[in-house]
Order: sequence, then structure tokens, then C-alpha cells
Amino acid sequence: MMNPVLKKSVCRLTLQRSLATTAAAEPRLKNFKIYRWSPDHPTEKPHLQTFQVDLNDCGPMVLDALLKIKNEQDATLTLRRSCREGICGSCAMNIGGRNTLACLCKIDQNVSKDLKIYPLPHMYIVKDLVPDLTNFYQQYKSIQPWLQRKTFPKDGKEVLQSVEDRKKLDGLYECILCACCSTSCPSYWWNQEQYLGPAVLMQAYRWLIDSRDEAASTRKAMLQNSMSMYRCHTIMNCTRTCPKGLNPGYAIAEMKKALATD
Ligand code: SF4
Ligand code: SF4
Ligand code: FES
Repeated sequence: MMNPVLKKSVCRLTLQRSLATTAAAEPRLKNFKIYRWSPDHPTEKPHLQTFQVDLNDCGPMVLDALLKIKNEQDATLTLRRSCREGICGSCAMNIGGRNTLACLCKIDQNVSKDLKIYPLPHMYIVKDLVPDLTNFYQQYKSIQPWLQRKTFPKDGKEVLQSVEDRKKLDGLYECILCACCSTSCPSYWWNQEQYLGPAVLMQAYRWLIDSRDEAASTRKAMLQNSMSMYRCHTIMNCTRTCPKGLNPGYAIAEMKKALATD
């Protein structure tokens, strides 16, 4: 027969365990208010739809919650994503008032606070959280983002670059073209047909300062007009929002200097 003291402590332990299990199983429901609009119902106005997600049963990132909603509550919820680790740039959206990547954005664990999620601002919308990036990609193509040379090494091998010159590309080449910066820029909101915006301008700068490239004068000439680059008023929303910690505002300022001292 079990010693009564031992029996009492076993009972207490069992009770504590069962309370702990109940507490852990208590759902932590958080409201996600998500922008919805579908071209299948063009006369219906865009609206926010509320979904509840149990944070005890969800991964830590906003993308986890969105995929959980899509898988378990509404398969029609539409969004882009691919890598889920901040590499492809496709899950860019406006989360809690800030443009960022859903896969890198942690869910605020405070369940009393609703989380609002919109597509990238001031863009035409394809559906729900998917913006139309056609103009953005055409602008990227317009700066000719590839190495241009007329002369090549006689040995037929690669075009070499010094360690110092290679270093100048750090902080520029890492851009994943997510468009978070461009769509946070007021100048881009109002002039995106003509103003290239911070993401594309930073890539223009990346090629302009590449020591292996020989098209600098053409690249500069493309920007010597009032709209393509000079619409940047150094408001710096772009740099503040970049989910990769890059500084497109600085790159544009450097490019303005390069053009001014030409
Ligand atoms: S510095 Fe300001 S105006 Fe210039 S690109 Fe960035 S957000 Fe736009
Ligand atoms: S600079 Fe940053 S925010 Fe802008 S497109 Fe590149 S990675 Fe995205
Ligand atoms: S899914 Fe690729 S950056 Fe978020």
C-alpha cells in the first residue's frame, strides 16, 4: 500500500500536470483582418475580412497564419509566396501598417490586438493580397540590369574585379526586388508611370558603379531628366521599410552626386 504522504504528493503532481495541459490547450485566438477583392465580383467593393487563428496551433510568422487560413478556412484567399525565408521577395505586403515580407514578419502574440493586412499600397490589385507588378518589372528592365562591355579579356576568361571594387556592390546586390520600398515612397505613389522608384534606382546605381561595366555614360544619360530619378525628395520611407535592411535612399543620393559631378 502506498505511503499516504507519497500518495498526496503524487495526486498534487497529477493535478498540476492536468492544469498545465488545460492551460496549454486554451486557444489563443487572434483576429487577422485581411483585404479582400476579387476580379470575379468587380462590383463588390474591397473590404476587410476577419479570420480567427489559434496562435497555439500556428507557426510564428504572418505567412504561417495566412497559409493556415488559406488551408483551413478559405481556399480562395490569394497571395504570392515561394521561398518562405526572405529570398524570393514574393510575399511582400502591408502588415500592421508597414510594407514588409510576410515570411519574415513575426506575429504579435498579443491576442487582444487585431492585425490588419493589405496588399502593397497604391498598386493595381490582381486579387486580394496580390498587386500587379507589371510596371515595376518593366521599369527594372528599362535600366538594363546586366553587365555591358565592348572589350573582353584576350585570354577569353572572366572580367576580373579588385576586392575593393567588389566591396562597393555590398548593400546593393542583395536586393530581392520585393517592391516594399518603392510602394512606400510617396513620390512613387503619385508618379509611378515616370519615376523609377527606389528599388529600380538602387539597381541602376548598382550597375553604374560596377567597375566591370562600360556603359556608365548611357546609364547616366537615361536618368538625366526631371522624372526618372529627381522625383526622389529624400523622404527615406524606402530605407525605413526595407525588410532586408538595405538603404536605397542612400544609393539614390550617391547617384545624384555622381550625375551632378559629371
Ligand atoms: S528617399 Fe524618399 S522620395 Fe526618395 S525614393 Fe526613398 S522614399 Fe522615395
Ligand atoms: S531595396 Fe529592400 S525593400 Fe527595396 S526592393 Fe530591394 S529588398 Fe525590397
Ligand atoms: S516567401 Fe519568399 S520572401 Fe517571403
